[in-house]
Amino acid sequence: MRRDTPAEDHSPSLGAKEFEKFRRLAYDQFGLNLTAAKHDLVAARLGKKLRELKIPSYAAYYDLVVADRSGESLIALIDSLSTNHTSFLREASHFDFLLTQVLPGLRKRASIDIWSAPCSTGEEPYSIAVTLLEKLGMPPKPALRIRATDISTKALGIAKKGVYAADRLGSMPAAMVKKYFTQTATGLFQINPDVRKMIDFERVNLIEPLRGSRMFPIIFCRNVMIYFDKPTQERLVANLTQFLEPGGYLMIGHSESLMGVRHSLEYVQPAIYRKPGAATA
Ligand SMILES: C[S@@+](CC[C@H](N)C(=O)[O-])C[C@H]1O[C@@H](n2cnc3c(N)ncnc32)[C@H](O)[C@@H]1O
Repeated sequence: MRRDTPAEDHSPSLGAKEFEKFRRLAYDQFGLNLTAAKHDLVAARLGKKLRELKIPSYAAYYDLVVADRSGESLIALIDSLSTNHTSFLREASHFDFLLTQVLPGLRKRASIDIWSAPCSTGEEPYSIAVTLLEKLGMPPKPALRIRATDISTKALGIAKKGVYAADRLGSMPAAMVKKYFTQTATGLFQINPDVRKMIDFERVNLIEPLRGSRMFPIIFCRNVMIYFDKPTQERLVANLTQFLEPGGYLMIGHSESLMGVRHSLEYVQPAIYRKPGAATA
C-alpha cells in the first residue's frame, strides 16, 4: 500500500542569528522591542515580504534592507513589522476628558492644536476632530488643527485617504457618521473634506530627536509605548514633553503606564499626565 508522505516545506526559516539582526535593526531604527517571544510573528510578517519580493532567505532580505541607501527598504520593513491596530473613539474616557476637562480652558483661543502621535490609519485624529466639532460647531471657532504623525507610510497613506469600511465605524454614533462621513459608490465611508483639511499628516519617528516650534495643550500618544523598552519609553516621553505647553496633557494607552520611566509630568488619572505649570488660556 502506498503511503502519503507530507509535502516537504521549502519555505525559508528565520534562524536565531537572522532574528537577532532584524531585532537589533528594528530596535536601533524605530525603538521596537522585539523580544524572543515575537520570533514567530516576525518570521510570519517578514516571510510575507520574502514571498512578495521573491527573495530566497531572511539573510538575503536583511542584506537588501541595509544596502538600500534610499531608505525605502527600511520603511517597508517597519511597515511590515509595526502593529497598526486602532479604532474610532478608542478608549472613550480620553474623549470625555477632552470635552469636560480640556476644552473649556481652550475655548477662548484662536486655534486649538492637538497632536495625535502615532495616528496609525487615521481613526484617532478623525475621532478627536469629530468629537470636538460636535461641541465647537462647523466651521469651527476656535479653529481646530490636528497634527497626525506615524512612522508607517502605509498607515499614513490610509489615514490621508480617510476611507473606511462600515464595520470600522461601529463605535461611532450613527448621527456622527451621517454628519462627518460620505458613503462612496462602493459602500465605504469617507471622512468629509472639511474635517480632513484640519489634519496635517506627516511621517515622524518618535524616538528620534524631534524638531519644530509648535506647542500643544494636548498630545495623544496611545498604544505605541507598549512596543518599547523602558529607556526608549523614557526618550519618547522626554521628546513629547518638550512640545507640551505648561499645564498641557499627555494621554497614553490604558494598558500603558509611566511606572519606572523617569519623567517630569504629574499623574492626573489612569493614562493621563499633565505638564507642571499654569495653563495659558
Ligand atoms: C497600535 S498603533 C496605535 C494607534 C493609535 N494611537 C491608537 O491608540 O489607536 C501603534 C502605531 O505606532 C506606530 N509606531 C511604531 N513605532 C513608531 C515610532 N518609532 N515612531 C512613530 N510611530 C511609531 C506604528 O506604525 C503604529 O501605527
